[in-house]
Amino acid sequence: MDNCEGYADVLVGLQYGDEGKAKVVDALAGEYDIIARFNGGSNAGHTVVTKHSSIKLRQIPSGILHQGITLYIGSGCAVDIVQLSKEIKELAGIGIPLQGRLFISSRCNLVQPVHVALDRTHGHPIGTTGNGIGPCYADRALRVQEGSRVSWLIKDMLHDTDHALEIMMMRYSNWIADLGDAADNMLGVEYSQQGLLDGWAVVKEFVVDDPLFLVNQVRTGAKVLFEGAQSVLLDVTHGEQPFVTSSHTTPSYAFVGGDLPCKYHRKTIGVAKAIMSRVGAGPFPTELGGIHSARYCDAAISQGKNQDFERSSFDPIRLLNSGDGFNIGIALRILTGEYGTGSGRPRRIGILDVGQLSQAVALHGIDEIFLNKIDCLTHFSYTPDSVIPILFGDAPNRTIENFLPFSISNEPLPPELLRLLQLIELKTECKIRGIGTGQKRNDFFLFDSLSTHTPSHHDS
Ligand code: IMP
Repeated sequence: MDNCEGYADVLVGLQYGDEGKAKVVDALAGEYDIIARFNGGSNAGHTVVTKHSSIKLRQIPSGILHQGITLYIGSGCAVDIVQLSKEIKELAGIGIPLQGRLFISSRCNLVQPVHVALDRTHGHPIGTTGNGIGPCYADRALRVQEGSRVSWLIKDMLHDTDHALEIMMMRYSNWIADLGDAADNMLGVEYSQQGLLDGWAVVKEFVVDDPLFLVNQVRTGAKVLFEGAQSVLLDVTHGEQPFVTSSHTTPSYAFVGGDLPCKYHRKTIGVAKAIMSRVGAGPFPTELGGIHSARYCDAAISQGKNQDFERSSFDPIRLLNSGDGFNIGIALRILTGEYGTGSGRPRRIGILDVGQLSQAVALHGIDEIFLNKIDCLTHFSYTPDSVIPILFGDAPNRTIENFLPFSISNEPLPPELLRLLQLIELKTECKIRGIGTGQKRNDFFLFDSLSTHTPSHHDS
């Protein structure tokens, strides 16, 4: 690597998504010049909170609150121009214009209206987010069907907008015609040629039609943080088919979908949380309440069991007191706000699985771990045993170990927490570099080393 050249670090989720990656990106952003996305699309989600407002972002990379940072959406992403234009306009509305900061690769695949339609019609067995991501990537691989091209890229909009729009709208109209009246109920969103044109008018100015955009930035010294969407356990190859997302979420893919040669890779950062969650269907070995919880969460949205319902119907402390796994799951969901950012779906809740974490660390070469939601463990003090259960080991030698609850202050870490973190470091053979301890932006500790246990409180 040339001395004046920059480098790229990769940050990924190590569980089933929603590990609080954006919080870690926010804490580390000052170390980088560019935050870049390399996979997924509006199936991701994070909330940006400013003094006066809070907005939900899905496609724009994290780190937008750091004024000097450039944001890049790499060619491995699936872009929904209508959704993206909304995010750009909403950010401008709260005083964060993206001109000169946001760059979108012209090679990104377009999420077409028919993709959203197909996902919402057929995605339920997996519990997809319904944003058309699977059909979009499927068409990318399919390329042509019955003699006609089915994959359309941003660069097609750039070079012949009318033609690209015409074909996309034709596919969508055919889908509606095939379904008849049923189409209205299924979609919950309506696409029109004018809507797409309006979205494109907003997005167009941010497109870069230069495959070397990021390469040239790094060649001249830029430090990049690749921000993975979803998580390694949902990777289309490494996850448990079919309960996966449709893109590659693993760190190696950052250098494909992120448009940079892998020679610039420096280190890999993994984000996990101390209480686990999963949305959608699929295996979740440490789920509190097991199959009962999985079924309840699957049916929840159609039965109106959202966050407001759970908050007004249950007393979380009583549920914790009951000692029943299913009840404890609901209580932790209410107390720790585990509901989908985009969909509002109740997330399935489970205890930390260190065996699974160790495997993810080994398989993806994780150099340092950030562990979020440490504060949530304190809720276990209301359970009958008043201990924090954590799963260690791989099948068939899996054991639950219990840890004493603790309370967190700005002083050195409580010894009970330190013992837990040190054991996680030992089992995963990986350094813990920081912990998240609350919802606020600066509820976050960065460590030089756990052994000296003198955390510096993050203050941005
Ligand atoms: P899709 O990515 O919308 O196709 O959904 C496929 C699976 O990945 C479903 O189980 C989703 O709930 C899950 N998924 C997709 N994006 C996220 C995310 O950002 N966080 C957590 N789960 C996700």
